[in-house]
Amino acid sequence: MFDLLIIHAHLPDGRRDVSVGVKDGLIQEISAQDALRHAGAGEVLDAAGQLLSPPFVDPHFHMDSTLSYGQPRVNQSGTLLEGIALWGELKPQLRQEDVIDRAMSYCDWAMANGLLAIRTHVDVSDPRLLAVEALLEVKARVRPYLDLQLVAFPQDGVLRAPGALDNLKRALGMGVDVVGGIPHFERTMADGATSVRLLCELAADLGLPVDMHCDESDDPLSRHVETLADQTHRLGLHGRVTGSHLTSMHSMDNYYVSKLLALMAEAQLHVVANPLINITLQGRQDSYPKRRGMTRVPELLQAGINVAFGQDCVLDPWYSLGSGDMLEVAHMGLHVAQMTSQAGMRQCFEAVTTNAASVLGLEQYGLAPGCRADFVLLQAATPAEAIRLRATRLAVFKAGRRIASTPARTASLNVNGRPATVDWRL
Ligand code: FE2
Repeated sequence: MFDLLIIHAHLPDGRRDVSVGVKDGLIQEISAQDALRHAGAGEVLDAAGQLLSPPFVDPHFHMDSTLSYGQPRVNQSGTLLEGIALWGELKPQLRQEDVIDRAMSYCDWAMANGLLAIRTHVDVSDPRLLAVEALLEVKARVRPYLDLQLVAFPQDGVLRAPGALDNLKRALGMGVDVVGGIPHFERTMADGATSVRLLCELAADLGLPVDMHCDESDDPLSRHVETLADQTHRLGLHGRVTGSHLTSMHSMDNYYVSKLLALMAEAQLHVVANPLINITLQGRQDSYPKRRGMTRVPELLQAGINVAFGQDCVLDPWYSLGSGDMLEVAHMGLHVAQMTSQAGMRQCFEAVTTNAASVLGLEQYGLAPGCRADFVLLQAATPAEAIRLRATRLAVFKAGRRIASTPARTASLNVNGRPATVDWRL
């Protein structure tokens, strides 16, 4: 007897018309068609050929600044530099309860969107560590339905900003999960490389993963990812280190990249691209042609490197848009990387689900017996259709329990006396 039985579901890996039986919060069995019906179930949900996916995962976000749009003023130019200046103005005014309220609102949006795991960077440049305390509180509050992972992020440079290394260590001591960094923002290339070594050694000592904002620049000579791969290999951190953004790779010399990809694969680095933010913030010094500035996603995947897409920003000093919709992120990533092949579109869906889960190191994630019964039912039949429509999340489940529902998207027409219904699916 199952607690929940979902029938006639399509799965992202191409399996069609399957049944998924859930017991005690875990997926117990997946079988063809109605084969599990005989076992009985407390609740039966007919998916009617819609896509049942593991939940969306955001591997790169900034929850300490989200939903602060307009505070203390709006970013008029929409540029990175005005965004950084704005965040500098807002930081001294932050109040812990405001950070918590905004983050909790965003977690509600995430849950409704089937986004049930988020890795968020938290700025540790402020010695008060007010945002760290706030997000640790949020992490505890949302734990029953959302996995929140925190990265100690020295926004102003771990060597460049006075006291930043000490603040970062204190944040880790308070329970922050991941060591962050921003080598391209240090004063010199040499300082950037030193910061990578120092932070990787700290992570090795503490047994923690690493996730750095790395080479978020159009400068083809910004090569800190090379040092990140080297230190990962030297310290035996294989599979525990993520390079986020890596936008300089877009502009690098092709020969150099052919060497770099092998180093990154050897170190088993994870890569996170942030398509919405990369396409808006990079290439701003260019006239025409303007570079897109997103890292080389298909080439990284081809080299066997795990690549995920992140949201990065929503309604904050850097980005005046966004809604916590990882299908919007996948949609932009697909376009910017020209991943319009059949395999490429599937990979873009994986970039916001399974690949992102690998970045976070989530356990029991996926659609297989023994995995947590966390999933989202989409108003689409395939991953490509889900991306095309930014499909409605009909139902979101956590540990086998429905935690969010959205009505199917339809429209009613009445023209020339001919009533009709539109649902945008083939
Ligand atoms: Fe970021």
